[in-house]
Amino acid sequence: MSLIAATHLKKVYGVGETAVTALNGVSLQVEPGEFVAIMGPSGCGKSTLLHLLGGLDRPTSGSVMIDGHNLSDLSDAKLTEIRRRRIGFIFQFFNLIPVLNALENAALPITLDGVKPAEAKARAAEWLDKVGLEGRSDHRPDQLSGGQQQRVAVARALVADPALVLADEPTGNLDTHSSEEIAGLLRQVANDWGRAVVIVTHDPRIAAYADRIIFLKDGAVVDETVLEPRGSSNGRNAELAGR
Ligand SMILES: Nc1ncnc2c1ncn2[C@@H]1O[C@H](COP(=O)(O)OP(=O)(O)OP(=O)(O)O)[C@@H](O)[C@H]1O
Ligand SMILES: [Mg+2]
Repeated sequence: MSLIAATHLKKVYGVGETAVTALNGVSLQVEPGEFVAIMGPSGCGKSTLLHLLGGLDRPTSGSVMIDGHNLSDLSDAKLTEIRRRRIGFIFQFFNLIPVLNALENAALPITLDGVKPAEAKARAAEWLDKVGLEGRSDHRPDQLSGGQQQRVAVARALVADPALVLADEPTGNLDTHSSEEIAGLLRQVANDWGRAVVIVTHDPRIAAYADRIIFLKDGAVVDETVLEPRGSSNGRNAELAGR
């Protein structure tokens, strides 16, 4: 069973003359452990699609199945539970809480979900180690570089053990070197830790880390490229992503 099965997704913002059709019949599937990049011009509906896949917003028509649950059938309470436990989110501007340290930020989703503080901190510490931030647990966001802050956000996205990680422009606010590091880390999230990863990116070098690239234009899927496994591509993936 696919982890994500989205069918004929349509999203219209507003009504009447000012209505904007952001998505116009998008269908896609993502398998467990797969890394998918979504690319396309500004305004083509990438963020809208990611929001619908993550249950942050509801489609005008069409359906999203996550793990066999049709999101449209769920109550708000059940949807919130699936979002918290099955899906991790990563944002362009990290969205860390400035007054909390790295450990407290990474632990936040499970702390809010009722996990006892000691256990939440132990699990967060484990993920901070895995993303390469050992020794930085008590640093606040303003004491970390952009790349390190995004690593905290990756740990926070994984702390609840989700099956799916969604990231909107996760490298959009990072320099080239940190961007490649975060892309490599997301590759690891899929390969080593078995989570499905869906990212939106404008950067062909970042999209080249994925297994597959979906190209959107004017709210519709216009192309799709399956990439070669990393290590065997000799730079061809970046070429495919950038066309
Ligand atoms: N809340 C909203 N209300 C009205 N229109 C919206 C809303 N959100 C997005 N739109 C419109 O829907 C279309 C798709 O927007 P979306 O943010 O999904 O594009 P995007 O591909 O993520 O663009 P970018 O690359 O600039 O982030 C755009 O025309 C946008 O103006
Ligand atoms: Mg966007």
